[in-house]
Amino acid sequence: MKIGIIGVGYVGLTTGSCFADMGNTVVCLDKDINKINNLKQGISPIYEPSLEEIIHKNLKNKNLTFTININDLLDSEIIFIAVGTPPNEDGSADLQYVKQVAKELGQVINKYCVIATKSTVPVGTGEAIKEIIKQEIKKRNLDLTFDIASNPEFLKEGSAVIDFEKPDRIIIGCENERTQKIMNELYRAFIMRDNRRILFMPIRAAEMTKYTANAMLANRISFMNEIAEICEALKININDIRKGIGTDDRIGSKFLYAGAGYGGSCFPKDVKALINIAENLNIHAEILHSVETRNKKQKELLFKKVKTYFNGNLQNKKIAFWGLSFKPMTDDIREAVSLILTDLFVEAGCTINAFDPVASNNFKNTINQEYLKNNIVNIFEDKYETLKDCDCLLLITEWSEFRNPDFEEMKKLLKKPIIFDGRNQYDAEKLKELDFIYDGIANSLYS
Ligand SMILES: NC(=O)c1ccc[n+]([C@@H]2O[C@H](COP(=O)([O-])OP(=O)(O)OC[C@H]3O[C@@H](n4cnc5c(N)ncnc54)[C@H](O)[C@@H]3O)[C@@H](O)[C@H]2O)c1
Repeated sequence: MKIGIIGVGYVGLTTGSCFADMGNTVVCLDKDINKINNLKQGISPIYEPSLEEIIHKNLKNKNLTFTININDLLDSEIIFIAVGTPPNEDGSADLQYVKQVAKELGQVINKYCVIATKSTVPVGTGEAIKEIIKQEIKKRNLDLTFDIASNPEFLKEGSAVIDFEKPDRIIIGCENERTQKIMNELYRAFIMRDNRRILFMPIRAAEMTKYTANAMLANRISFMNEIAEICEALKININDIRKGIGTDDRIGSKFLYAGAGYGGSCFPKDVKALINIAENLNIHAEILHSVETRNKKQKELLFKKVKTYFNGNLQNKKIAFWGLSFKPMTDDIREAVSLILTDLFVEAGCTINAFDPVASNNFKNTINQEYLKNNIVNIFEDKYETLKDCDCLLLITEWSEFRNPDFEEMKKLLKKPIIFDGRNQYDAEKLKELDFIYDGIANSLYS
C-alpha cells in the first residue's frame, strides 16, 4: 500500500520504516530539514536497536523515502499523523502540531485517503482534525471525501521494532466500513494467524484506550514504589513481594519493579493529560493525581538517600551517575530521572561524573550549560573512568552493561565503595561480601 507518515520521531520513523520493510511504499515527512537530510543518507536521528539497518535496506530498495514537501504524500492511501503532543503548562496535551498538520493536509489532499492519528491525543481530537481538514477543503471549493481514524501506538522505545513486528494488539478507531477495510488491509499481515489482535472501536474509545493503557502502567509502577517505601521501613525486600504477587494470574508479573521513578516522553505527559481531561469534565482524578505525586517523590529518592547517608552535608561531594536515558536501550532523556537528580545534586554543592552508553549527547544538550562550562557536570565515555575519586555511585538506568561490572575495579576507583542502586540491579548480599556499602529501593540486606 502507499503510506504517508507525518512526523519522523520515535513513533513515525519506526512505524514508517517497518511498514516499508513489509513491502509498502512509504513517504515520511518532517519539518526538520536536518533530520530529513540525514535520513536520506540513512542516518537515524534516534538510537533504536536495528532501526538503522531497516532504514538502509528500504532506502536502497526505494520502499522508503524522506521529504519535507507535503505534496510528496498525495499518492498515499493512508496518511499517519505522528507528530509530538507535549504537555502544556496546565498538563493538557499541546495539540498545535497535530492541528497544524491537519490544516496542511486539508490544503493539499486531492483524492480520497484515510488520515489516521498515531500521536497520543485527547478524546475528541479525531473529530477536531476532521473539522479542520473539512474547512480547508471547503475553502478550495472542492467536493472531496476523506476518512479519519485513530490508530494509537503502543511501541516501547528500546524495543520499538520488535514491538511493531509483534504487537500485543492493534487498536483502530474508525467511523465506517470503508476505513475499517483499508486499515484491515494494511495490518492484514499481523492478523493472519490471530485476528483477535486487531480491535476496531469508535474513534473516541481508541483515543481513550491509549491514555488508559499508559495510566495503568504508570499506576503499577507508582503503586509498587509506594509499597517499596513501606517495605523499606519494615525491612522487607520488595523483590519477595514482587514475586509473591506477580505469580497471581489476576495481577501478572510485568511492571511490578520498584525503582527511582518513571520518566520518558509518554507516562508523565499522558498521566498529566488524563488528569486534565478529567478536570475539564469536573472530575477530580484521585488515583491519577497520586500516581503523579508518588512519581515526583520517587525521582528525588536517590538524592534523599545519598543526603541521609552523608548526614545532610553534600558540599563538594563527587557523585558518579551510571545511566542517563529515561530507560535502557534508548537515547531519549525526556523527563529522565537523571535530569532531576543532576539539578538536586548540583544545588547541594556536588559535582557529577556521568556516563551513559548512548544518551550522553542528549543529556549534554538538555542540562544547564553552565554545569558543563564550569566542570560541575563531567561526561565520560568509559563507565569505570566515571568512578574515579567519586564519593559514591548512583545506578540510575539499568543498561545491561551495568548488570555485572567488575566490582573489584570499581572499589579501586571509588573513594569509598558505596552504591545507591535506583533499579535494584545488584545483589545486596554479594556486595556486602565484596565490602561495598549498598542501598537499593527496598532491596538492601535485611536480616
Ligand atoms: N515515543 C514513544 O515511545 C511513543 C510511544 C507511543 C506513542 N507516542 C506518541 O506519539 C507521538 C509522537 O511521539 P514521538 O516520541 O515520536 O515524538 P518526537 O518528538 O520524537 O517526534 C515528533 C516529530 O514530529 C515532527 N513535527 C512536528 N510538527 C510537524 C509538522 N507540522 N510537520 C512535520 N513534522 C512535524 C518533529 O519535527 C519531530 O521530528 C506523541 O503523541 C507521543 O505521545 C510516543
